[in-house]
Amino acid sequence: MATGEFLRNQWYVAATSAEIGTTPFRRIICDEAIVLFRRRDGSIAALEDRCPHRKAPLSLGEIVGDEIQCGYHGVRLDGSGRCTLVPSQKDLPIPRNFGARSFPVIEIHALVFLWMGEAGADPALIPDWSTNTAPGWAAVHGYHYVKANYQLVVDNLLDLSHVTYTHKTTLAGPGVDDVPMEVFVEDEVVKTQRIIRNVDPAPIHRATKGLNGKIDRWQLSEFRAPIYILVTLGAEPAGTTEALQVPSHLVLNSATPETATTTHYFWSVTRCIKTDDLELSRKFLEITYTAFDEDAAILEAQQNSMDRDRSGAPLVNFRGDRGGAAARRIIATKLDEQARLAAAAE
Ligand code: FES
Ligand SMILES: [Fe+2]
Repeated sequence: MATGEFLRNQWYVAATSAEIGTTPFRRIICDEAIVLFRRRDGSIAALEDRCPHRKAPLSLGEIVGDEIQCGYHGVRLDGSGRCTLVPSQKDLPIPRNFGARSFPVIEIHALVFLWMGEAGADPALIPDWSTNTAPGWAAVHGYHYVKANYQLVVDNLLDLSHVTYTHKTTLAGPGVDDVPMEVFVEDEVVKTQRIIRNVDPAPIHRATKGLNGKIDRWQLSEFRAPIYILVTLGAEPAGTTEALQVPSHLVLNSATPETATTTHYFWSVTRCIKTDDLELSRKFLEITYTAFDEDAAILEAQQNSMDRDRSGAPLVNFRGDRGGAAARRIIATKLDEQARLAAAAE
């Protein structure tokens, strides 16, 4: 498994909007330390979290106006990374090319997206997570720090057969194993789909939709490279799902790599039904936290087990792994392309 390489020319979720204020906020993304802060006009700046003077983390400093001041010798940088002040030699010009790298940032859908590449930061490439904030939708948000490679999180969300075994008290219901998952690959998008008919409801269906009789339920996952998985879940009384009607809820997942073995997992649960029902929001938040705690636990144990594995045996792909395997192929192809371009540029 490719572990320590990351796709650079991509948008990654760096933070939730709520996390970024007027104090420096440090986050490691793709093994690079970044510092984010909000300027007075509300816009967000992102710089490498390393002072160009003696390499102290800028995040240990403070924000002064729209600039960040290093906490060691007071060098100041603006949001573009340009140095504006060297306190110990105010009488001299600021050295040419002395500054920090800055990263393109876009704040949208209640999230902060960061472009990790050198060029090509096209806003159109940001995933459509608009149900986070769109009128007519209600959303709850969560974050898990998962000590596992991000591709394990992607695998997890593309093979929802695990709900039967990992989420016994929340999402598990009968029949999931018995229905083969369909997989569709279109360019760089992988879709997996499972429609399960005439089964008893899972605990989440009872708790959030009051469904107690037989139901039809469906699970759709849609992966966009490198880290985005939209999961659409639905349940209706049995016999009513022909047209895959209004989803019970959507789960918007962003599995931002921190390092080769750790992931910032941002998720939102959004719904377009009973949007004013705060008790329903509370239930969704509670159930999803419970379920994703379970995912984090198994993924961390899996990573640990893989780290100790000296057998050299590959991961085995069953039918349910086809979605995850397709996503890995897309990531691997893009990593190869990135390496080729980097080699050509040398
Ligand atoms: S290390 Fe930042 S000002 Fe010296
Ligand atoms: Fe799960």
